[in-house]
Amino acid sequence: MITFNAFAKESKAFIDERTVAYVSRLEAPSVLKDAMIYSLEAGGKRIRPLLLFATLHAFGKKKELGAPAACALEMIHTYSLIHDDLPCMDDDDLRRGKPTNHKVFGEAMAVLAGDGLLTYAFQVIASNDHPDVTPAMNLRLIAELAKAAGPEGMVAGQVADMEAEGKMLTLGQLEYVHKNKTGRLLEFSVLAGAILANASHEQIEKLLIFAQNLGLAFQIRDDILDVEGTEEEIGKPVGSDAENKKSTYTTLFTMEEAKQILQETAAKAKDAAASLGLADEYLLEICDVVATRNN
Ligand code: IPE
Ligand code: IPE
Ligand code: MG
Ligand code: MG
Ligand code: MG
Repeated sequence: MITFNAFAKESKAFIDERTVAYVSRLEAPSVLKDAMIYSLEAGGKRIRPLLLFATLHAFGKKKELGAPAACALEMIHTYSLIHDDLPCMDDDDLRRGKPTNHKVFGEAMAVLAGDGLLTYAFQVIASNDHPDVTPAMNLRLIAELAKAAGPEGMVAGQVADMEAEGKMLTLGQLEYVHKNKTGRLLEFSVLAGAILANASHEQIEKLLIFAQNLGLAFQIRDDILDVEGTEEEIGKPVGSDAENKKSTYTTLFTMEEAKQILQETAAKAKDAAASLGLADEYLLEICDVVATRNN
């Protein structure tokens, strides 16, 4: 077995290359392809594909089985960032260390590049013709991805986040925002690996508890980095949340409390992963990365 760092590096390189290759082959207007590729190529941690691949690994399965699903996930995530940065949303100028999509291509093209990535993701995930993938699996992946990213998932979270601007949320309301705007896509990353690996119902239940806690920890860390991070490391503006009067874990709690909750949440994720009794080494390492990341 290769080390976690080698596994993560290999997985990122794989996604960097594959996502761009998928878009390059499209017969579409070149400016649209350029705008889609611009944000994909800007990089990103590729944590969602890494989670999918680490879940497959836990079941002894290879990356290739989940390659289209992992690329689809990263496309949907990238679309969500392009739209999240628009002037009508968080109005940010920097993403993944580069000017945001609308700063380079204009607002209309940025909206369309997001639309393109979102829609194409479903074409990509449906195209999985790996011999171990059944049509029923593909259908389930498509339905689960739509649910996680759509109006009952990530989009709902973004709406709640927007509507909360300028208001002080209760902890329950803030948890709703975080679980949906960030958590659902991270949950799908794990679920997709489990579906493709033919996991049992009981295994999926444990994996979902792992993913839900990991997703919450991931967004708490994002809130902390919005205050304590450096622009150089996070590749996006620091202080965006305060400027937009967002409720976050650092406005509802002190910084110290937020860090404590982050540690507790990451520990719950670890316990759930360990309870699987599978090859969970990479899943456990991801919990540490999420809790301590600086970018
Ligand atoms: C940023 O996601 C938006 C959130 C959901 C917190 P990431 O922190 O995964 O961003 P990239 O993909 O590494 O740029
Ligand atoms: C964004 O949350 C979540 C989605 C894009 C769905 P944030 O607004 O906190 O993400 P950043 O901080 O801009 O990356
Ligand atoms: Mg936002
Ligand atoms: Mg934002
Ligand atoms: Mg943020």
